[in-house]
Amino acid sequence: MVLKGFAPSSWVPQVSLVFRVGLACEISLVGRFCSDESQSLINLANDLRMTIKQLAKHAFTGTAQTLLTAGLFGSFVDRLAYERLRQRRRQVEQRLKGKGLYGDVVERGPFKGMAYTSHWAKNRFEKIIGAYEFYLHGFLERICARQYSEVVDVGCAEGYYAVGLARRMPQTVVYAYDNDAEMIEHCLENAQLNRVRDQVRTGAFCEPSVLQNIPIRQKGLVFSDCEGYELTLLDPAKAPMLMANDILVEIHDFKDRAISTTIRERFSATHTLEVVRAESVRFADYPVLQHLNLQEIYAMVAEERVELMEWYYLQARSDTP
Ligand SMILES: C[S@@+](CC[C@H](N)C(=O)[O-])C[C@H]1O[C@@H](n2cnc3c(N)ncnc32)[C@H](O)[C@@H]1O
Repeated sequence: MVLKGFAPSSWVPQVSLVFRVGLACEISLVGRFCSDESQSLINLANDLRMTIKQLAKHAFTGTAQTLLTAGLFGSFVDRLAYERLRQRRRQVEQRLKGKGLYGDVVERGPFKGMAYTSHWAKNRFEKIIGAYEFYLHGFLERICARQYSEVVDVGCAEGYYAVGLARRMPQTVVYAYDNDAEMIEHCLENAQLNRVRDQVRTGAFCEPSVLQNIPIRQKGLVFSDCEGYELTLLDPAKAPMLMANDILVEIHDFKDRAISTTIRERFSATHTLEVVRAESVRFADYPVLQHLNLQEIYAMVAEERVELMEWYYLQARSDTP
């Protein structure tokens, strides 16, 4: 770019100024009009430009490294806190077990009587005392009364819902998916322990095409608790079977704020919607908690949630997609 009315010798210093502020693209055009004498200035400016670029690059790399380190450190601290909580839970469980106040059989709720292996399981204590996701009990009773021909449990972990629902619905085939192989092993052990092994079929990663290929005999229920993957999974464009079957889904909006609205929109024409929001456990409802101090109670029954979650029970209006 040449500025009209300026002699080359008068605008060379301006060119170098332009360089200094990093407008590098100007240099090649302006440079063509410079005298030999100004070449050294241009070289100097070029050096400056390189220095600025390098500084900017280092500043960026430094920031990126700082952010990465902070992120890694943050997750390390989270991990430590989680391990400490697990250890504290284990200690309390052992103490209660020693006193005969805690065992391996679910004590109340829709899955009362369900046996549990002694393996570690997330929220095992709440599951055993019947406090786990107790706000779903109403839906679960209705689901059991409905006797779905198939239940597809996506994110089944050790099988609390997969095995619990199989016990309550003897005619139902439960397809239980988890991409954690160890959890699937535990799920199968729990199924065996509860004599519902022949009702439970397991798989690893579940995606829309997997849903679509499940043979639904009459009416199925997709039970989804998969950490935000529900946005991809529950897409009737990719799995049309969803249009004719029911869904119980935990909405992980903290992973992506679009999840709740998208799911509502996708099923507004084909399903009725009921919503239940997570609530805190009423300590007085669980007598075993009287044997713990308040700190222990919080460690044992406060779900590790970042916010109060919502569940949607979506019931298909029609049996055909
Ligand atoms: C919060 S846990 C589920 C807990 C379980 N529903 C319970 O109440 O005991 C979520 C599980 O989903 C699994 N998961 C996430 N996305 C999945 C997918 N697309 N297919 C299979 N498993 C998935 C994870 O491995 C994890 O074990």
